[in-house]
Amino acid sequence: PSLDEIVNLHDFEAVAKVILPPKAWAYYSSASDDEITIRENRAAYQRIWFRPRILRDVSVVDWSTTILGQRSSLPVYISATALGKLGHPDGELNLTRAAGKHGVIQMIPTLASCAFDEIVDAAVPGQVQFLQLYVNRDREITRRYVQHAEKRGVKGLFITVDAPQLGRREKDMRMKFVDESGVAKVQENQSGIRKDEGVARAISTFIDPSLSWKDIPWFKSITNMPIVLKGVATPEDALMAYDYGLAGIVLSNHGGRQLDTARSGVENLIEVVAALKTRGPWPNPKFEVFVDGGIRRASDVLKAIALGASAVGVGRAFMYSFCAYGQDGVEKAFEIFRDELEMNMRLLGTRTIDELSPELVDANALHSH
Ligand code: FNR
Repeated sequence: PSLDEIVNLHDFEAVAKVILPPKAWAYYSSASDDEITIRENRAAYQRIWFRPRILRDVSVVDWSTTILGQRSSLPVYISATALGKLGHPDGELNLTRAAGKHGVIQMIPTLASCAFDEIVDAAVPGQVQFLQLYVNRDREITRRYVQHAEKRGVKGLFITVDAPQLGRREKDMRMKFVDESGVAKVQENQSGIRKDEGVARAISTFIDPSLSWKDIPWFKSITNMPIVLKGVATPEDALMAYDYGLAGIVLSNHGGRQLDTARSGVENLIEVVAALKTRGPWPNPKFEVFVDGGIRRASDVLKAIALGASAVGVGRAFMYSFCAYGQDGVEKAFEIFRDELEMNMRLLGTRTIDELSPELVDANALHSH
């Protein structure tokens, strides 16, 4: 179908499924084990209901916000997804160019299939980019990578903490064969890569499973970028991150690709926010909570923010949007979010992101499965 015929983000997924080579579709769409968590990521939002307010003059609606102190035209950022070139020859650059045009923040993956500098060079002046970090067994490689990113103007460091070992994505494992072109750039940056166990395994053997809280002061010593832990699931760890003086957390299960039957990020949000409130006034501009996983609609975005998230991350929906249409597809995905946000905020009776509050949702069914 032509881009004009794309009406929602699900349409991009349907198109990607048809046009992608089977191994690329397997890598992008797969999740771990029985794929229960990936299903739950969508289902959780369907157990949250709105309590819309009326007669509030919603003629002017503004969905722009700040993320880690940086302006963002959407309350949504592009989460890191590895190996963009499996989906389109321009890979991650499709995201960078579209994001630059629309004022959206992109999180650059350690396992990007374009070189890091190529992705930074593709940004327009003032464009905000974050870095997602997989920590190398060789800390010297990690130190150089982080400090280089900061020097290049990256504005935030998201350390992925839910992947000491990559989950078993069985659809991907069955493919075995690894696309050399997609993996080549990753091999340049990170050593110790194997190629005989599916794409995910092939690119992840350098990741250090010994990573622990003891390493956090070291990260703080090597960079002035705000540090966020990506892949937190409990109030206990949220409080640890807060007490270590970090800038925030992403409540995430890695798009269902790591521990299967882990709860969804949005389900964990309520108790995490309740725990953080015991440490002081909320919202706290010095500590932000993000959520990702399963977000396909502006209504999902608004629910997570109403429950306390400051913004949300989107992985697959943006990936799928460039597979057939390149940069134009990603721009269309932003426009869909924008149109849906405008309509949903009006119907919900909210004019700004700051006006979103827990009273606007009924989450009573969220914990009953
Ligand atoms: C990911 N994700 C991810 N996360 C990360 O920290 N480092 C990475 O390299 C990747 N790579 C990656 C590849 C693919 C194909 C997917 C689908 C996901 C996880 C990603 O950042 C995010 O947490 C999830 O994608 C969010 O869920 P949705 O939006 O895909 O449902």
